[in-house]
Amino acid sequence: MNIKIKNIIKKKNKSKIVSLTAYSKNIAKILDKYCDIVLVGDSMANVLYGSNNTHEITVKNIIQHTLSVKKGIKKSLLVVDMPKGSYFNKIIAKKNAKFIMKATGCDAVKIESNKKNSNIVSTLVKANIPVMGHIGYTPQFKKKFKVEGQSKLKTLSLLKEAVAIQRAGAFSIVLECLAPKAAKLITEKLQIPTIGIASSSYCDGQILVTDDMLGLSGFYPKFVKKYANLNRIIEKAVKKYTREVKIKKFPAKKNFLHGAKFRR
Ligand code: KIV
Repeated sequence: MNIKIKNIIKKKNKSKIVSLTAYSKNIAKILDKYCDIVLVGDSMANVLYGSNNTHEITVKNIIQHTLSVKKGIKKSLLVVDMPKGSYFNKIIAKKNAKFIMKATGCDAVKIESNKKNSNIVSTLVKANIPVMGHIGYTPQFKKKFKVEGQSKLKTLSLLKEAVAIQRAGAFSIVLECLAPKAAKLITEKLQIPTIGIASSSYCDGQILVTDDMLGLSGFYPKFVKKYANLNRIIEKAVKKYTREVKIKKFPAKKNFLHGAKFRR
């Protein structure tokens, strides 16, 4: 087993797992210094491409962005979302997962559960492809963003789903939008680490969409803490640049080129 994955599993009950999403190199390079896991999420559909759902993201899109992210990653575990439709049966799933792994050099793939597809997880794991599961609010299969596991019955059904994914060989599992009690029970019952988003602090780790926590996406529901307001910072800089171009303050003499060599 990949040593990075072993280290993630070892963190269960010892230290919290830190993860965030990235879609490009510059952000990935910063995240890599702090995160255990960097996820190239299909949330890029909403965040980058302005879609209402994640359904239009293709294997080609995911590969393109992962190649960029990979250039910024030295130590974190790089996990890539399998796009909707790319794992609808065992044969297609294996073909696409192998293709994504080979084309990008990522460490693992993530697939969303539809309660019936733990057999896809086991197929990939048997083919030596590490898999992260994903239950609760799964945007590829569910339209409505709602808290899951609010009753005992629903919590037990989520637990059953999580256990099936663990049994299929997943090395960790994302719990999205789970009631705190459900997240706590599932985290306690599973041997693999749970990574929560909108699912309380009971999980073994946390993940957020980076553009949300940086105040760049405009999506700030209660579960997102805005750690910066990049929208404001970027707007201020662009406004200043605009003004300086107009009053001919930029470019200044020091920005003129007189044959100096430079490389990007
Ligand atoms: O696509 C994504 O960014 C995700 C995270 C929200 C877990 O799946």
